[in-house]
Amino acid sequence: MTGNPDIASPKAELERLREEVETIRVQLVEAHKMAAVGRLTAGIVHEINTPIASILTNNEVILRSLEKLKTLVGAQQAGSAPSPKVVQILDTIQSLASVDKIACERISAVVRGLKTFSRADESELRESDLHEGIQSTLKLCQCQYRSQISVETDFGDLPKVECYPHSLNQVFLNIVVNAGQAIDGEGKITVRTRRDGDAVLVSISDTGRGIRPEDADRIFTPGFSTKAVGVGTGLGLAICKRIVEETHHGSLTFEGEPGKGTTFHIRIPVRQKKG
Ligand SMILES: Nc1ncnc2c1ncn2[C@@H]1O[C@H](COP(=O)(O)OP(=O)(O)O)[C@@H](O)[C@H]1O
Ligand SMILES: [Mg+2]
Repeated sequence: MTGNPDIASPKAELERLREEVETIRVQLVEAHKMAAVGRLTAGIVHEINTPIASILTNNEVILRSLEKLKTLVGAQQAGSAPSPKVVQILDTIQSLASVDKIACERISAVVRGLKTFSRADESELRESDLHEGIQSTLKLCQCQYRSQISVETDFGDLPKVECYPHSLNQVFLNIVVNAGQAIDGEGKITVRTRRDGDAVLVSISDTGRGIRPEDADRIFTPGFSTKAVGVGTGLGLAICKRIVEETHHGSLTFEGEPGKGTTFHIRIPVRQKKG
């Protein structure tokens, strides 16, 4: 051993190393879990896509056929007494088919969103449109919020950003989910994007309960959570911090007021330094 004269207490150093190992272990577990979820999602997306596409096509044919049938029934009955019952039944089927169409389109939109997340080819550094990732994140979360939480976007003019889109989507998802979980009852989430010199800034605000001053120093610590077991793992923000600051050389900060809400600022350089 070379020995470090600066080490005041080997015990403290050991403790620090032990903590570091624990942090890395927790991050590894989470990375494995995310990779497994990604693979699983890609499979599900594939399985759902084909039947949904076929239902949507059939639905279009049904709607067109009903339109024709109505014209035919109308023409046939022109001479004799009209049968309101037949027309009524046709109307009912038609409106049900229209609702089915909307339902299918919704499922398709969610599946498209999932696809953005599970895209395996996006593990490479590439130029990406951040708005695309943000939109699909919001689409995924909206099903969870129903009408209680409104979501607003205020998108600026952003250049393509050199990044790992898959990882950044994970950051947007974690922060948007946290924002939703911070809101009791009704509230609003706002996602704002701006160019800021040689970087882009994504700010995600919520009107939720805010972060207590005594927790502010700890929210990025792996394992810190104020949520019930099963709801929170306390890993979300630790992973976000690592993805934004270590992988993308950006910064992840927050501001807010307890009781009023919180804003997380994600700053990502437009270009990554060649190393
Ligand atoms: N938007 C937010 N509003 C209020 N508190 C937040 C918000 N985002 C994060 N927090 C706090 O930071 C903690 C850590 O967040 P995170 O690392 O994502 O873990 P988890 O969500 O699993 O608890 C949360 O438990 C919560 O106390
Ligand atoms: Mg979280």
